Amino acid sequence: MTTHQPINASAEIRSILYLNGVTKTFDGFKAINNLSLDIAPGELRAIIGPNGAGKSTMMDIITGKTKPDAGEVRFKDHIDLTRYDEADIANMGIGRKFQKPTVIDSLSIWDNLELALAGNRGVLQTLFYKLKAAQADRIDEVINLIGLSEKKKDLAENLSHGQKQWLEIGMLFIQEPEVLLVDEPAGGMTDYETMETARLLKDIAKSHSVIVVEHDMEFVRALDCKVTVLHEGSVLAEGTLDKVSSNPRVIEVYLGR
Ligand SMILES: Nc1ncnc2c1ncn2[C@@H]1O[C@H](COP(=O)(O)OP(=O)(O)OP(=O)(O)O)[C@@H](O)[C@H]1O
Ligand SMILES: [Mg+2]
Repeated sequence: MTTHQPINASAEIRSILYLNGVTKTFDGFKAINNLSLDIAPGELRAIIGPNGAGKSTMMDIITGKTKPDAGEVRFKDHIDLTRYDEADIANMGIGRKFQKPTVIDSLSIWDNLELALAGNRGVLQTLFYKLKAAQADRIDEVINLIGLSEKKKDLAENLSHGQKQWLEIGMLFIQEPEVLLVDEPAGGMTDYETMETARLLKDIAKSHSVIVVEHDMEFVRALDCKVTVLHEGSVLAEGTLDKVSSNPRVIEVYLGR
């Protein structure tokens, strides 16, 4: 007897991002070395590891900024990301926040968000008022999410470092990526801002896949998600924060420092 799978079983996505055997060498130095990573749809994942472990390079490879020498990089199981450039990959729904903010200081929070929204939806800008109203609602919604409702008319230059980072996350989020890659969002933040950032990313992860690179262990604990430890371009350990932080190798190369 033949067993038939339900029709939508093949449409179900197993991995939103899947890396297998990925290698990248810069001038003979293996920045990424046989790296494998599997992120489920809707997952929140923290990536930790010492300086130079390859965390940002991994994001460069996923987003098409850097081409790997070898290995598979797949989006939604079957889209081979190595075949696309950065702009294509961003349009597919993989958004990235770099360490350095790209917020425009001389614009208000509202205008920065409007610009980010238009950046992705240039054509929609030319449409009618009704659509603009929907866009305005969307901007308000994002301003609420990032906790800056009180300051929406303020110039971005008047925001604290942490608030700028939230605006930056909002500018990424408003473009509705399916996956958000966030590199060291809590760097330079106060303890309060750090915890608020964890809350924000957990909120976003309710409806999106989110990968966060961070060195701040209090922040990673607050994310309360699976953790991958990178070291010398490969996965050294993976699991709960408690599990990986009791791993002797992780303590030796990272946490014990
Ligand atoms: N474009 C490049 N050209 C040459 N070397 C590079 C390039 N990008 C990254 N590297 C090297 O690859 C290694 C991994 O760097 P990467 O920035 O990915 O580390 P990281 O884990 O993000 O570190 P950090 O925690 O300090 O941000 C480093 O030795 C770095 O110098
Ligand atoms: Mg980095």
